[in-house]
Amino acid sequence: MAQLWGGRFTEATDRSAYEFNASSSFDKKMYREDIAGSIAHAKMLGKCGIISPDESEKIINGLVKIREDLESDALHITDEYEDIHSFVESVLTSRIGDAGKKLHTGRSRNDQVALDMKLYTRNQIKLTDKSLKDLQKTLFSIIKANTGTYMPGFTHLQKAQPVTLSHHMAAYFEMFIRDRERLKSIFERMNSCPLGSGALAGTTYPLDREYTAKLLLFDRGPTRNSMDSVSDRDYLIEFLSALSIIMMHLSRFCEEIIIWNSNEYRFVEIDDRYSTGSSIMPQKKNPDIAELVRGKTGRVYGSLISLLTTMKGIPLAYDKDMQEDKELSFDAMKTVNDCLREFCGMLSTMSFNSRAMEESAKQGFTNATDAADYLVKKGVPFRDAHSISGRLVLKAIEKGVSLDGLSLSDYKEESDVFEQDIYEAISLQTCVEKRITFGAPSRESMEKIISYYEDYLKKEEEFDKKQL
Ligand code: ARG
Repeated sequence: MAQLWGGRFTEATDRSAYEFNASSSFDKKMYREDIAGSIAHAKMLGKCGIISPDESEKIINGLVKIREDLESDALHITDEYEDIHSFVESVLTSRIGDAGKKLHTGRSRNDQVALDMKLYTRNQIKLTDKSLKDLQKTLFSIIKANTGTYMPGFTHLQKAQPVTLSHHMAAYFEMFIRDRERLKSIFERMNSCPLGSGALAGTTYPLDREYTAKLLLFDRGPTRNSMDSVSDRDYLIEFLSALSIIMMHLSRFCEEIIIWNSNEYRFVEIDDRYSTGSSIMPQKKNPDIAELVRGKTGRVYGSLISLLTTMKGIPLAYDKDMQEDKELSFDAMKTVNDCLREFCGMLSTMSFNSRAMEESAKQGFTNATDAADYLVKKGVPFRDAHSISGRLVLKAIEKGVSLDGLSLSDYKEESDVFEQDIYEAISLQTCVEKRITFGAPSRESMEKIISYYEDYLKKEEEFDKKQL
C-alpha cells in the first residue's frame, strides 16, 4: 500500500477498504494529464520563488523522464499506489530525492484531480469532434452523389411524400453539425484552470494562477472560486449529455439502416465486412454493427444518469463520491468513439439500391398531396382538394393500382378540373423537383445546401489547422 498520508494514523488501512478506496487501476489513464499539470505547477513554483530554480528544474526533468519511461513501457503503474497522483509523486521522490517532496507545495489532490479530468476531457472532446467530422465527410459524399436518387420519405413509418437519398442523408448531416456545435460550446465553457484552488480554500503561497492557466492553454484563465473549482463536474455532465445526444442520433440512423437492410426493404446492403452470419441459419447476414451501436446507446445514457445522480447530493466542496466520475466517463468516451468509428466504416462501405428506393417511392400514394395541390393550383380550395384526392386514393386501392394507374375518366368522376396534365403533375420526378423551397428535397434546393456543407467542411478544416 503506497499512499501520500499517514502521519496522524496509528493503524494501517484495512486491506480491502484500501482497495475499495483506491483509484489507480482506472485513473492511471490520466498519467499524461497528471504529469503535464505537475510540470506546469513546478514551473510556476520556481518562477514565483516558492521553490528554488534548481528544485523546479530537477522536478520538471524528473517528471519528463517518468513520462518517457511510461510511454516506453520501462515503468508501470501498479495497483499498490492509491491513485495516479501518489504514483507520480512517489516515483519522482524516489528518483530525485528531497526536491520531489516539494512538488505538492500549494496544491491538493482535489485541485490536481479536477485539473487532470478537465485536461483529459478536453482531449476527448477534440477526439469526438474529429470522429464526427470524418463521419460528416462520408455522409457528404453520399449526399453529393444522390440528389437524383428518389426514395419515399416516411412519417409514422408510413410512406408520406417522396424525397431523395441526398435529402434524407442531409438530415443526419444537420444533426452532426449541431452535435459538433455542442462540443465546441462545452469546450469553451470549461476552458478555465482549477489548479491553485488547493483542497477547497486556495493557499497561502503566492501562486501565480494566471501563469499555470496559460501554460496549460486555458483561454479563460484561472477559475474564480476555489470551492467550486474542486467540486465542479458540470463540464463532464455536459459532455456526457452531448455524447448521449450523439448516440441518440447514431441509434436512429442505425435503426433506419436495419430497416432498410431488411429483406422487406432492400434499400441498402451492408457490406460483408460489417455484417455477421448465423451459427445455425446459413442464409443469414445480420446487421450486428448497427444493432450494437443502437444497443450501446443505453450504456452511454446510463453514464449520464449515473453521474447526475452521484452529483446531486454532494455538499461543497470535494467529497470522495466524485471519484465515481471516472470509470463511467471513460467508458462513455471510449464507447462513443468506437461507435463513431465503426458506424463510419459501415456507412462508407454500404451500397444503396436506388431502384428499390425509387420503386418503393412510386408505391404507397406518396403523390396524393401533389394530386391535391394540382387542384388547388386550378382554383379548388385545399380542403376540398384534400378530400377529392383521398377519394382517388380509395378508388386506386380498390382497383389495385397507383394514382397514375387511374384513367382520366376515373379522375374526372371525382372532379372535372382534372386534365391530361395530372399525370405529369403527380410523376415522381415532378413531386420531388417542384419542391424548391429552401431546405426542401429538389435538386435545385439541395445544390444550395451542398455548397453550404462544402464551405462548412472547408471552414472546419481551416479551424483545425489553426488549433494545431
Ligand atoms: N482519486 C480521487 C478522485 O478521483 C482524487 C482526489 C483525492 N482527494 C482526496 N481528498 N481524497 O477524486
